[in-house]
Amino acid sequence: MKKNIVLIGFMGSGKSTVARELGKRLKADVLASDALIEHKEGQTIHEIFESKGEDYFRDLEQGIIKDLALREGIVIDCGGGIVLRKDNLKNLKANGIVFYLQASPEVIYQRIKHEKHRPLLQVSDPLGRIKELYNQRLPLYNQADFTIDANGATIEGPVVEILKKI
Ligand code: S3P
Repeated sequence: MKKNIVLIGFMGSGKSTVARELGKRLKADVLASDALIEHKEGQTIHEIFESKGEDYFRDLEQGIIKDLALREGIVIDCGGGIVLRKDNLKNLKANGIVFYLQASPEVIYQRIKHEKHRPLLQVSDPLGRIKELYNQRLPLYNQADFTIDANGATIEGPVVEILKKI
């Protein structure tokens, strides 16, 4: 069975861009949990959070991750909160190598401060919120098989590092 490459990490850590590049270089399919959820519901993530709430979103996410984890040889771009449900990492690790793209709260803030589509960060103090969520999630992200430094300005570093490890 060919292992999946699984990317986890905070919003703005570069998972989607790194995933697309890995997919190109490895000629592998790239699937993103957020995009699959939006397709299934016919709504954006923002709309799902607004109309049905975070728990509903996390249930959908768990179902999608379970299905993705059964695939082989794909690159999986995970939403930043997948680590919040224990089962997700367990399922993903069963047939995948999990990479945590680590970027600091300050780097993340600089990257996403002008974006409006992330419901969890539509607050008056986004940097404070990022730091709070980051600290809560760090022990969970650290359960990945490998941590990859994603603080740099380009994705070449993380892509090369991941390719070396697989
Ligand atoms: C979330 C991250 C988002 C998306 C949702 C919740 C989170 O995905 O799933 O807004 O809890 O960190 P990205 O990490 O792709 O932005």
